[in-house]
Amino acid sequence: PALFIFNGPNLNLLGTREPEIYGTTTLAEIEAACVEKARGHGLAVDFRQTNHEGTLVDWLHEAHAAGAKAVIINAAAYTHTSVALLDAAKAITPPVIEVHLSDPQTREDFRHLSYIGQAAAACFKGKGLTSYLDAIDAAAAL
Ligand code: DQA
Repeated sequence: PALFIFNGPNLNLLGTREPEIYGTTTLAEIEAACVEKARGHGLAVDFRQTNHEGTLVDWLHEAHAAGAKAVIINAAAYTHTSVALLDAAKAITPPVIEVHLSDPQTREDFRHLSYIGQAAAACFKGKGLTSYLDAIDAAAAL
């Protein structure tokens, strides 16, 4: 696949997780919309979720080895904690695009810092599912 879309911890609970912040759209619904959006650009997508930081590191390496056009990542809470993910994003060739459903800048102070954002080609946030779809458009335009 040309595009890899990786989702971090707790995003498997979308639909019931803090709906006042994240809405009621499930991750399966986000995946279906992303696959459809990418298809419109003639791009295949590999869409995944894990709760484990090291797995996200491994997947970034895998996307590099696969020659991905781009990696779109919602690193969830690891956004704000993980130097390992930043280093992985810096180590790989495919551009990394950061996405968030909410806008972390308007939330608690501890969400204001994004490590992986320091290696991201672009960031789309605060628009729910549309953040992902905008990221796919940006990836297609690269
Ligand atoms: C999130 C924002 C993060 O701060 C949070 O830890 C998440 C989800 C988002 O998509 O809005 O788990 O990445």
